[in-house]
Amino acid sequence: MTMAGSDATDFYAVRLARVDAGCPVISIDDIQNERGTLIVRKGSRIDRQAAERILRHRLVRPLEEQVALGCMLDVPDLEACYQALFAAYPDLDALRRHVEPDGVYSELAHAARFHPVFWQKLTVLRRQLPREFEKALFCAWLATWIARLHGLPRSDVEAVFIAAIGHDFGMLHLSPALLAKGDALTPAEWHGIQRHVDIGRDLLRRLPGVPPLAVRAVAEHHERCDGTGYPRGLEEKDLCLAGQILAMADSIQAIRVNQFGGSGRTLANVMPFLQLNTYTHFESVYRAAMALLKRAKDHESRKFDAGQIGHLLKRLPVRCRWLRGTERILERLLEMLEGVPDPRDYRRLLRVAQRVRKMITQAGLAQADVAAWVEGLSLETVDQETARDLDDLKLMAIELHWQIRNLVRVGESCLAKAESGGMDHLKGTVGFVLGELRGELARWDEETGG
Ligand SMILES: [Fe+2]
Ligand SMILES: [Fe+2]
Repeated sequence: MTMAGSDATDFYAVRLARVDAGCPVISIDDIQNERGTLIVRKGSRIDRQAAERILRHRLVRPLEEQVALGCMLDVPDLEACYQALFAAYPDLDALRRHVEPDGVYSELAHAARFHPVFWQKLTVLRRQLPREFEKALFCAWLATWIARLHGLPRSDVEAVFIAAIGHDFGMLHLSPALLAKGDALTPAEWHGIQRHVDIGRDLLRRLPGVPPLAVRAVAEHHERCDGTGYPRGLEEKDLCLAGQILAMADSIQAIRVNQFGGSGRTLANVMPFLQLNTYTHFESVYRAAMALLKRAKDHESRKFDAGQIGHLLKRLPVRCRWLRGTERILERLLEMLEGVPDPRDYRRLLRVAQRVRKMITQAGLAQADVAAWVEGLSLETVDQETARDLDDLKLMAIELHWQIRNLVRVGESCLAKAESGGMDHLKGTVGFVLGELRGELARWDEETGG
């Protein structure tokens, strides 16, 4: 099965066949290919054999419209999933009790109007990609609260809710093997992952009841104000507020769930990350998100023991030095790219590099006086307040490390696409500097044990 309007394979049939192993997935129509040939007869299970047949054809109608699941989620199930989410994240639960003292997540009521295909996608997501499902719920709750604090009208808050719940449905159509690869992706594979945005947008556009604003928000959920996002690299003036609220909620969720995991860090600790990223989001969205997270901070009562403080005092100067070294390499890369009147294929790399430079400046970690201040501290002089500041600095260092890794990834994909015509020299030098940055990243991994 190929995607509408492209030659890429659509793997949704594989997901359905895997679901079918635990709960029947039945064709409710004769499934035909574009030439009218029968592929799967009405009333059949979508099992592995059926999926393999479907995979080889271009269907006349989207597969999801021609199947029914024996185990569809409904509103009470979704409510129960939310209860499980709040139980799994006590910090999220504390924030919820703070902003929703009556314990009612009122946006959930919109779920009663979800189209059956929307429920189908949500059901398949939960069974096939349970982590993505959890993240979608997490993101939707945050997004609707940011939208409310921002003062959006009710209909727009509803659109944000729908978009946030469905924003990564496109993942279900990508190759399961590609998704399982995690972070170690080649530029071509990374490009493949990015396709989930357009796939999700097209899918939601076909569904009755999904507001156009929600469709647009999904299309823009990985775009960033400074033009460093994907898939189109749009800039602030071209982006809608709902999409950027979704982008912000998705980032907060990703930091809390992916980066913090079970480390004991909470939503309140996301704030230093956002402070570094003020250029990438709408300012008003940033302020609304910070206002929400500040309420989380009021509930934070994390205590640092001597061992943790000792660890911070030992590791932070190492990280400051690392950043200083990396910043110097970054400066050389920028000098190189900014010296070219029209860096064409490298424009995206240039933008991302400029953003990372701003972030490093903003964090202050590479400045000699910050390092000197940390080095001058001792176990006796660090109180809980200072310990929290040090922990914030450490989080910023981790975020900057991630940003530099992302920069190398963007650079490599620019290199892979760059035509060398007349710019051979640039290609060579950019490749060399990216190699140096990769070396620095490896050194960080050695120094911190990954
Ligand atoms: Fe996404
Ligand atoms: Fe996401």
